[in-house]
Amino acid sequence: MTKHLPITVAEFEPLAEAAVEPAAWGYYAGGAGDERSIADSRAAWDRLRLRPRVLVDVENLDLSTTAFGTPLPHPIIVSPTASHDLAHPEAEVATARGAAAAGALMTLSTIASRTMEDVAAGAPGAPRWFQLYPPADREAARALVDRAVAAGYGAIAVTVDLPLPGNRERDARSGFSVSLGAHLPPDQPSDPTTGLVIMPTMTWDDLDWLRSICPIPLLAKGVLRADDAVRAVDAGCDGIWVSNHGGRQLDTAIAGADALPQIAGAVGDRAFLVVDGGVRRGIDVLKGLALGADLVAVGRPAIWGLAADGSSGVQRVLEILRDELRLAMALAGCPTLAEVTPDLIV
Ligand code: GLV
Repeated sequence: MTKHLPITVAEFEPLAEAAVEPAAWGYYAGGAGDERSIADSRAAWDRLRLRPRVLVDVENLDLSTTAFGTPLPHPIIVSPTASHDLAHPEAEVATARGAAAAGALMTLSTIASRTMEDVAAGAPGAPRWFQLYPPADREAARALVDRAVAAGYGAIAVTVDLPLPGNRERDARSGFSVSLGAHLPPDQPSDPTTGLVIMPTMTWDDLDWLRSICPIPLLAKGVLRADDAVRAVDAGCDGIWVSNHGGRQLDTAIAGADALPQIAGAVGDRAFLVVDGGVRRGIDVLKGLALGADLVAVGRPAIWGLAADGSSGVQRVLEILRDELRLAMALAGCPTLAEVTPDLIV
């Protein structure tokens, strides 16, 4: 028992660490190499200073937005992270319930510990996206997309920054590894080649192919350069997810917060923008929106909530962020998200 309920997202981290096996904790908490990108993602938000507007009527604040036509009560969503059973026995089903209770869209990872159908059934009607690691076998990739569409996932976020896994040195030390395969329904034979997600040969041609078979909005996740973002939009992507993959891929890769302004400038209104990395406060969300993101995502904080208190913990983490965002909007003179504009940032 804690002395008080956590009132900040950061307070969930030690609670989660105490609840998770040390090697699994190393997997969640850790990143690549010297973990400079992890530190930088946090520091990038902290470095930004705000220039608030005064004397604006903020009695009625409206945090609502839409994502590809789906109404959302606020712009905070859950990034995909793997294997939630390491954090809680109810795994992604609990994450989905907690996110739904907080009105947050959840993105389910390909390498989840529950099937996408079970997760969808756990929070019926809730907005959800599916993160795709395309198996090398195209028919297997197509089957994942088809299943996601059938299960009501509203968009596919294809990860483009993992030709190989980064050097997760905490895992090398602890001997920890997750299975990098998609979770197949029990009636499907598990052919190891179809589940394989490591794809060092994945290129723009594969993105073109994926676009051609994906009937729902497609986001390219893990883009950090404006030229890549423009190319992905030219290839038909509806969205760009600006991310350094939680600092878990190329160490010292630029933080999402730092990459976002150039990407927003380059793609303009041609694509929907999501940013993640180091978001721990509603003020970080405000800054992400001001820099041009349409939605701001959190990965590890959702895991912390899940590990600490199951679906209620996930819900609480997301509600803390939402409430902090609401206050930050009021204090910055922004009654709606449309008023959260780049001039707020110094
Ligand atoms: C999987 O996407 C990971 O970063 O471990």
